[in-house]
Amino acid sequence: MKLNLKIWRQKDAGSKGKMMDYTIDGIDGDMSFLEMMDVLNEDLINKGEEPIEFDHDCREGICGSCSLQINGEPHGPDRLVTTCQLHMRKFSDGDTIVIEPFRAKAFPVIKDLIVDRSAFDRIQQAGGYISINTSGNTQDANSIPIEKENADDAFYAAACIGCGACVAACKNASAMLFTSAKVSQYALLPQGQVEATERVQNMVRQMDLEGFGNCTNTGACEVECPKGISLENIARMNREYLAANIKG
Ligand code: SF4
Ligand code: FES
Repeated sequence: MKLNLKIWRQKDAGSKGKMMDYTIDGIDGDMSFLEMMDVLNEDLINKGEEPIEFDHDCREGICGSCSLQINGEPHGPDRLVTTCQLHMRKFSDGDTIVIEPFRAKAFPVIKDLIVDRSAFDRIQQAGGYISINTSGNTQDANSIPIEKENADDAFYAAACIGCGACVAACKNASAMLFTSAKVSQYALLPQGQVEATERVQNMVRQMDLEGFGNCTNTGACEVECPKGISLENIARMNREYLAANIKG
């Protein structure tokens, strides 16, 4: 395949960025999107030009590092896949592909296609943990009965990889889907009850402090989430938040 690429280039956080045009040839449908980017970077290096910076780590859809806005969609046109798991067979010979960083005030661009998603880390730090009594009376977690439905829902919420596609997809750049997944994974389990009240209050407060927008129930986040995190988590977080504020 021969492809035309329009890619966002930005020197650093303080510089103004712009779209640049590139042409690439010999792309196989079995290559991943990131492998196509590797081929482009090899070409650029061989020509003495600066390669394009982009985030990646596991390339197996589990770390959440890869974060490209491809033709206006976070992680591209396929559903339930990350950018690293997107294959070039989803595109056709002669296509033009527009590649940008995830756009949100709370995700400032560091360089080219890399954005700073440390706001998510700070939301996690505000409440994404549980206390365990280690005085010698610790109960074996496997001996605590948990309803199957709750265990399943907690597991599905815990599948969030913190990629930020939900924020990039949202017209308000809201982080409600991410934050609600992190709140839900504990809210559904007995181990999460000790800090339940402070957790939801602190995580929502941090989310607002980071400059994410409000949720207006558009649902774009759920559509673009590579892990299928459900909007039900947002409803659960809202209930948790209300109950926590009533308790005070
Ligand atoms: S909710 Fe989905 S889109 Fe948002 S950070 Fe988690 S995995 Fe990524
Ligand atoms: S590189 Fe780890 S999820 Fe894509």
